[in-house]
Amino acid sequence: MSGIKYFPTKLNIENKTIILRVDLNVPIKNHEIQDFTRISLILPFLNELISRKSKIVILTHLGRPKDGKNKELSLMPVYKYLKKEIKSNLYFYAGDVDEETKKKITYLKKGDVLLLENIRFFQEESSNDELFAKKLANLGEIYINDAFSCSHRKQASLHKITKFINETYAGPLLKKEVEAIDMVIKNKKKPVTCIIGGSKISTKINVISNLIKNVDSIIIVGAMANNFLAYKGFKIGKSLIEKNTREIIKDIYSYSEKFNCKIVIPEDFYVSKSFDGLATLKENKSVADDELILDIGDSTIKKIEKEIDNSNTVLWNGPAGYFENENFNKGTNAIAEKISENTVNKSLISILGGGDTVSAINKIKKELSFTHLSTAGGAFLEYLEGKDLPGISVLK
Ligand code: 3PG
Repeated sequence: MSGIKYFPTKLNIENKTIILRVDLNVPIKNHEIQDFTRISLILPFLNELISRKSKIVILTHLGRPKDGKNKELSLMPVYKYLKKEIKSNLYFYAGDVDEETKKKITYLKKGDVLLLENIRFFQEESSNDELFAKKLANLGEIYINDAFSCSHRKQASLHKITKFINETYAGPLLKKEVEAIDMVIKNKKKPVTCIIGGSKISTKINVISNLIKNVDSIIIVGAMANNFLAYKGFKIGKSLIEKNTREIIKDIYSYSEKFNCKIVIPEDFYVSKSFDGLATLKENKSVADDELILDIGDSTIKKIEKEIDNSNTVLWNGPAGYFENENFNKGTNAIAEKISENTVNKSLISILGGGDTVSAINKIKKELSFTHLSTAGGAFLEYLEGKDLPGISVLK
């Protein structure tokens, strides 16, 4: 994607207040961060802004809070971790975005950083509210979006905010992602296989019909596969499923015929009665009503490995199972290891994306190699689809 206005390295930002939109949407369990990748990645640029003596206001979301200020989705654990990692004063602000916030910012000294509480605690963020965006813009003089992974969201801190601030830029992490993905798209070699998994079904299912035109096969794994299995009439017990997807899936199958794209879905699984249970191998006709499908089975793994062997480019987004429980990480690990092996030994072009995918890979205690590992999930898929991402279009 060309024409993006990137943050100029030589710009004098001393004493200027910078609004920095990053993606610190990290997995948190019992108030403990489970994977630090997204935080580690923003640190070099944050430290650079600190050393160049600007004042920084960080905006980020965490999860998808439905009913206002959900304590489970507070950024407090992120604040505590960041405080240890940066060489400056870091403050946390959990109030409303108003004149009081602005006043707090005027007290910041050169190099100080203020982290605002989960921006999605304000319903106006998700509705891309004009007035809210104006209040956010009022907090600083320069706006930088360094959150490629959220830029597919038309939300106030990513989109409308740019209407009310003159100096707006894309940050270095966004630049790196865009350049790496552009490079892969430009150089991709057929056959191209796309593996889609994970649990954010609603975000990804609509992307599939468009991807069909650009790839030779699509492998569906993770919770996403449950919808396809149910569509085909297989029992999926009490597994996670998205409502009202029959029409979309019907279209996916009809497009796949039209564009000659193979759709592969799992044929066996590891199931359990609970997320923290043990794994039992089952075929696709024998899942019981009280069981959850939590990983792909051994025959499916073999089938996917064969597909990877037959591909020259592999795009992967979303784990194959509930990798957070080690009993269900077999599929995800096998896919990661096979892609890595072929990237090293067979010049496979591989691009992997998504917060959960990155967390799952970080848990594998082996050195793995990929052409590009992106922190973006939904944004990565929409970018591959060829869509203009709203958070990036406004930075051109
Ligand atoms: C992600 O984790 O992919 C981004 O942070 C976007 O999150 P969202 O899908 O909840 O908008």
